Amino acid sequence: MSLVLLSLNEHDPEAVAHRINENGIDVIENFVSKTALKEAQRSIRESAEKSKMYGDPIDHDAAAKNTFIENWRRAPSFLEFCRSVSCYVHEQIPASPNWRHTLRILTGENCEPNSLLFHYDSYVLTALIPILMPSREETAQLILIPNARPVRRSYLVNVFDKLIVDSPLSQTVLKRRNENNRLKRVPMVPGNLYLFWGYRSIHANDAFDPEEIRCTAILHFCECHHTSKLKQFLSTYR
Ligand SMILES: [Fe+2]
Repeated sequence: MSLVLLSLNEHDPEAVAHRINENGIDVIENFVSKTALKEAQRSIRESAEKSKMYGDPIDHDAAAKNTFIENWRRAPSFLEFCRSVSCYVHEQIPASPNWRHTLRILTGENCEPNSLLFHYDSYVLTALIPILMPSREETAQLILIPNARPVRRSYLVNVFDKLIVDSPLSQTVLKRRNENNRLKRVPMVPGNLYLFWGYRSIHANDAFDPEEIRCTAILHFCECHHTSKLKQFLSTYR
C-alpha cells in the first residue's frame, strides 16, 4: 500500500486557520501522492462497479481497503494538526475531542437525494480530500456560504440554526442563489486537502451526472455540543 500523505510540518496551523477565516476555505495541494490517489481511485471504481453489477450497496470498507484512506484514518499526526487548527476558532477543544471519518461515494440513484443538500455540520472542522470528481468541472465544485454563523454556546440555538437551513423554504432559496451564481464555489481537485469550518459554513455538493462517481474522504473533527446534557437527553428519545 502506498501511504504518502505529504508532510504537514510546513503548514502552520495558525496560518491555516487564518486563511479559513479570511477565505472560507484553505487548500493544501497534492496532499495525497499521485500513486496513492490512483490506487484509491481504482479501488473505489471497482467497488462501485460491483455494486452496480450485483445491485448491492457499495461496500465502503472494501473500497477503502489497502488505500491511503486507511492510513489517513489512523494518522495521529493528522488529528493533532486538526486540533491545532481548530483551537483558533473554538477555544473549548477538549483534551480528547471526538471525530468521524466518512468515505462518501455518490453515483447512480444516490446522487440526486444527496446533492444540493445545504447544511451545517455538527463538527468544528471539516477536512475533505476529493478522490473522484465528475468530469464537468463546474459540477465538481463545493458550494458554500463560508462562516455564516459563529460556534454557538447553546446546543438549542445550534438546533434552531440547523432547522432553519434544513427547511424546504431555505433549501429553495439557497438553490436559487446558487443558480444565480451568488454562492461561493470552490473547484475540487482530487488529491488536494480542503479545510473549512463545517459547523459555521452552509455547504453542499453540486448536482452531477449520475453515470459518474463523486467520492470524497472526509474527517469531521470535534463535535461542538457532544457534552450538552440536552443533546444527550434528546438522543435517548430518538
Ligand atoms: Fe457537510
